[in-house]
Amino acid sequence: MRILVLGGTVFLSRAVAVEAVARGHDVVCACRGTSGRVPDGAEHVVLDRTTGDWPALSGFDAVVDVSRTPSHVRSAVAALPEAHWVFVSTCSVYADHRALGGTPATTPLIDAITEDVDWTSSPEAYGGMKVACEQIVQDGAATSAVVRPGLIAGPGDPTGRFTYWPVRLAEPGPVLAPPADDVVQTIDVRDLAAWVVHAAETRLEGVYDGVGAATLRADFLAEVARGVADTVPDFAWSSEEFLATHEVAAWHGPRSLPVWVPGKDDRGFMAHDVAPSLAAGLRLRPLADTARDTLAWVRSDPDAVVTGLTVDEERAVLAAR
Ligand SMILES: NC(=O)c1ccc[n+]([C@@H]2O[C@H](COP(=O)([O-])OP(=O)(O)OC[C@H]3O[C@@H](n4cnc5c(N)ncnc54)[C@H](OP(=O)(O)O)[C@@H]3O)[C@@H](O)[C@H]2O)c1
Repeated sequence: MRILVLGGTVFLSRAVAVEAVARGHDVVCACRGTSGRVPDGAEHVVLDRTTGDWPALSGFDAVVDVSRTPSHVRSAVAALPEAHWVFVSTCSVYADHRALGGTPATTPLIDAITEDVDWTSSPEAYGGMKVACEQIVQDGAATSAVVRPGLIAGPGDPTGRFTYWPVRLAEPGPVLAPPADDVVQTIDVRDLAAWVVHAAETRLEGVYDGVGAATLRADFLAEVARGVADTVPDFAWSSEEFLATHEVAAWHGPRSLPVWVPGKDDRGFMAHDVAPSLAAGLRLRPLADTARDTLAWVRSDPDAVVTGLTVDEERAVLAAR
């Protein structure tokens, strides 16, 4: 197949291009090339989507796009309407994160934001713009699949969120951790990429969550530890209240325990039902493998990003227990 990847120099879109090349497809990556280089075996066509100019690209069986910007998706779909489109969206399109086991069929969406907004300065616009991008693809492409990832993990992750845990659990000592009975869900970037390529190959249609299996945090962290250490560490499970009192932030960033989303209103955020995606061809590797490979990547790449509490910050919070 001839596949166009709009991107190809960063984490997921690069993994998609790597997978498509490995499967013997004719792969073109169209992007500026400022974020990295496209994988070996893929052709790079220089494209800056902010200019509105569309290069002479045609003859693709499938297009994979990861954009967040409605005008960029609008012009791309208008240029390549005959292809099968696989659009990578996000679980941030959902309006309600309370229920466990949500699916695209059961969870309402937020309103579309059809204008371009700078999501780096207005991150709250991210989900609404993705809703608009999904609709542009669904309305304009001959056939399409929309994949809505949850938290993506694995080698090359520019966010450093999941990465915190393999790095931390490879080290000794008691480990500060959020509540053991939270539900947590991630997906390995390589599994997601393989499924995106499968969706292109099979002209999969419909809307799916790009998520892994939802597990209790105690099992999740035990599995991460299995991938990076000889023993399961001594976890200091801590309540939301205790962590808030000691100014431990959630989700990502400095002084955070990453991959933690507190509060009843968000308990379903990392608890989607993976069954429809498995039925549509998604295959998942063990979380321990993701953890092991992520740690190996961090140790081999001086530019690898890790976010979260520092060793001293964690030690100080543990001492307050
Ligand atoms: N990370 C997560 O946990 C998570 C969770 C949910 C959903 N998602 C979604 O998953 C996808 C991740 O995609 P990704 O990892 O490939 O990273 P990304 O940052 O979304 O995509 C970046 C790609 O787009 C290209 N690009 C950016 N600006 C461009 C421009 N003006 N013109 C042409 N190309 C441009 C970049 O290449 P150049 O900069 O080289 O041009 C790069 O290859 C996104 O759709 C994201 O919304 C991620």
